[in-house]
Amino acid sequence: MTVTSVAQAAYVIAGLLFVLSLAGLSAQESARRGTVLGMLGMGLAIVATIALALDRSQRPWPVTAGLILLVLVVGAAVGSWRARRVEMTQMPELIALLHSFVGLSAVLVGYGSFLAEPVGAAAAGGDTVHRVEVFLGVLIGAVTFTGSVVAFGKLSGRLPSAPLTLPGRHALNLLALVACAGLLAWFVAADGGVAVLPLLLMTLVALALGWHLVAAIGGGDMPVVVSMLNSYSGWAAAAAGFTLGNDLLIITGALVGASGAILSYLMCRAMNRSFWSVVLGGFGAGATGGPVGGAAVEAVQAGEVRATSPDEVAALLTAARSVVVVPGYGMAVAKAQHPVADLAEHLRERGVTVRFGVHPVAGRLPGHMNVLLAEARVPYDLVLGMEEVNPDLPATDVVLVIGANDTVNPAAQDDPSSPIAGMPVIEAWKARDVVVFKRSLATGYAGVQNPLFFRENTRMLFGDAREQVDKIVQAL
Ligand code: TAP
Repeated sequence: MTVTSVAQAAYVIAGLLFVLSLAGLSAQESARRGTVLGMLGMGLAIVATIALALDRSQRPWPVTAGLILLVLVVGAAVGSWRARRVEMTQMPELIALLHSFVGLSAVLVGYGSFLAEPVGAAAAGGDTVHRVEVFLGVLIGAVTFTGSVVAFGKLSGRLPSAPLTLPGRHALNLLALVACAGLLAWFVAADGGVAVLPLLLMTLVALALGWHLVAAIGGGDMPVVVSMLNSYSGWAAAAAGFTLGNDLLIITGALVGASGAILSYLMCRAMNRSFWSVVLGGFGAGATGGPVGGAAVEAVQAGEVRATSPDEVAALLTAARSVVVVPGYGMAVAKAQHPVADLAEHLRERGVTVRFGVHPVAGRLPGHMNVLLAEARVPYDLVLGMEEVNPDLPATDVVLVIGANDTVNPAAQDDPSSPIAGMPVIEAWKARDVVVFKRSLATGYAGVQNPLFFRENTRMLFGDAREQVDKIVQAL
């Protein structure tokens, strides 16, 4: 039995573990198991890859155990340092940064594989497929690299989040793609040393294309773009897998590419946006505008909105028989999940029916709220999806909207001119009483005002969600 055959068998098992991992991650109850299976698969893949790399007969260039150990230690140290320090709210930008690494490695793998090509191979006509693989790997990798760097910059506030709208930008993108097609033809036909020229030119075009594609999208649409780049990074890895003749990389890349594409589609559907309207930019240009701070006070003084206090909310809850909690991005910012879970527990002990209504795009990541509620040990059976909770809301006494905004905006249903018109929302306003926890009257992610705050049956509890929920728990 050769090292190669054992490693290939290990790759098949690792591929299966990745599929099982994805299946496990699709439901809260099995998510932990899914993560463990994914870690096992990745561990196995790393061991098999090291064994293959050390088997010198497999590689045209020498790889030593010391070199592998060095990159493992550096990678693991940086990875665990970042994973420990990252805040849940910074997750999208970290993911964007990690995608840029995948893109960059696809570019490097492509160049490495091209340089290792036997001289004159293409001219001999036997290497067209390899050339196409190299070209596509570098192309997708370069677009993913700069696109992810720009997404990281926008999400972390290092780059302006407003979309860059160059005149004729769609024509520019099209021109870049046409140029790449021409360079591919040249690259495939060119001999040895000359072929590096079209490859280099295409890399420059692809780097500019990735940068421009994402720079043209408003900060508001970045989470969908991150998911799209996730998909690109998968295809880049799959292309690198073809170049290296590595089956596991092909399987894993295809899994990531397909799941990222499905995720992007689901996110767009939950926001009632077409995928192309996101990719071609526009929405989210002026996100997070709207009245803040003083304007909230003025609106309260003018009687436009009714402010309440933790004691009043505690009294409202004491008299309630059914309560629905609708969490949103603000709950993540305030790290209020633990006090919210305590509040739910107190109410349940008093015989109140408590449920959580989670919108599919509440927060900034798919499943963001589910993760936070699971972390605070809220029982899974209390956590309902939007479709499950909406029919119950007219019979609900109190809805507590904890840091959610766009996902409970009635304008999505009532105002056809609203930028979020048609987006499915949690119909909080149908309950008898609504309490909205937020710090001001500022808009949410989509940058649109929320008429819910001005409704008859709504009370605003201004302040940090965590502090306010703590006070209510004390009052109870
Ligand atoms: P948002 O509409 O973003 O609103 C969050 C609200 O939380 C803000 O209005 C903010 O108001 C409040 N907030 C922030 N910090 C707070 C704190 N410390 N205490 C209390 N409140 C605080 O949230 P949402 O309802 O969850 O909607 C999510 C949005 O993200 C949707 O537009 C969705 O389309 C978009 N999106 C989500 C995803 C995924 S996958 N989840 C992907 C792409 C886009 P104040 O500043 O006044 O406090």
